[in-house]
Amino acid sequence: MPSMRVVEVKKPGSADGLALGTADKPLPNRNDLLVKVHSFALNRMDIMQRDGKYPVPPGASPILGVEFAGVVEAAGDGVTKAKVGDRICGLLSGGCYAEVRTELSADLVSGHILTSSQYVLVPEDLAIPIPDNVSFEKAAAFPEAQFTAYQALFWINDLKEGEDVLIHAGASGVGLAAIQLAKWKRAGRIIATAGTASKLKHCKEHGATHAINYKEESFKEKINEITEGKGVNCIVDFIGATYWNDNIASLGRDGRMVLLGFLGGMKLDQFDLSPLLLKRLKIEGSTLRSRSEEYTARLRTAVVKDVLPMLASGALDVRICKVFPWTEIVDAHKYMEGNHNEGKIVVTITSE
Ligand SMILES: NC(=O)c1ccc[n+]([C@@H]2O[C@H](COP(=O)([O-])OP(=O)(O)OC[C@H]3O[C@@H](n4cnc5c(N)ncnc54)[C@H](OP(=O)(O)O)[C@@H]3O)[C@@H](O)[C@H]2O)c1
Repeated sequence: MPSMRVVEVKKPGSADGLALGTADKPLPNRNDLLVKVHSFALNRMDIMQRDGKYPVPPGASPILGVEFAGVVEAAGDGVTKAKVGDRICGLLSGGCYAEVRTELSADLVSGHILTSSQYVLVPEDLAIPIPDNVSFEKAAAFPEAQFTAYQALFWINDLKEGEDVLIHAGASGVGLAAIQLAKWKRAGRIIATAGTASKLKHCKEHGATHAINYKEESFKEKINEITEGKGVNCIVDFIGATYWNDNIASLGRDGRMVLLGFLGGMKLDQFDLSPLLLKRLKIEGSTLRSRSEEYTARLRTAVVKDVLPMLASGALDVRICKVFPWTEIVDAHKYMEGNHNEGKIVVTITSE
């Protein structure tokens, strides 16, 4: 059986437990493309999963990594549109950098979790063609942030033209994507929060009309001031518990909030239910990774129609703050853990 190189979690826990190793190269099923990966992008869930703190959804691969860019090397018999040599990128529910196969189960049982590899299998209906003028690095950083932001703003929050939106962690990969998509939708006020002056600058440069340093001032009070007491129509939140009460206070009548993460914790000591009724609020949680392949394929179709042309024309910026060779995967994980990134962290597979 031919082999491929992979990044393994030798020991769940800190980034130092990551190292390069080898595994069997996967074979495409009927509707799959076998892609030789050029680059992949990091996401918070990679870190949580590496630490053993991310509950992998039922049916999803237990292997880390959800987005990649590379070249089609082989295709299953049922593939109709893509062909060998195509440059593609994509978002999967997991195992983006390695395919779960029975021959790998011994590694998994012994605690060696395969994370990143040279090859990945992609169902054809999830593949996204990379525009000619877009690099592999940018393409690898495109799917997760854009899918998440698109779904959060338009499918869940139903953001309409002229409405005000509050986007937390504004300089994160998802945050910068959401700011730009809200601008594309011609939202009213696009208000972002972030923790440094440099991050606030990036939020503004990408289309935020207002940027709040949540470490220096109360975003609840600023929203009240900016919206003249009305509150915002929508919130995209990743923070959870520590922002809960101020988020509820910042929503206006008929406000909607999508909860996508718990960077600030999951448990509330006390919660006053009355604003839910009095302001007629809608609050919805979502994890993209637990969605069915059919749902993700529909989202992929919408993103390819509405967002990919903006990437190709340069109207949409996929901001990459740092590119690491995969021999430095430990440093890449540590960089994200330190909250240093303004935009996406990308890892390229090198020949070493
Ligand atoms: N549910 C889903 O479907 C889904 C999909 C994708 C991503 N996500 C989640 O979305 C979030 C953003 O993802 P990403 O990959 O774009 O993140 P990222 O680039 O790693 O950025 C996250 C940023 O959040 C801010 N932050 C961290 N802890 C915080 C806290 N306790 N309070 C306030 N701000 C905090 C930090 O910026 P500051 O310096 O500004 O504090 C940090 O740089 C993550 O939580 C991720 O798990 C969810």
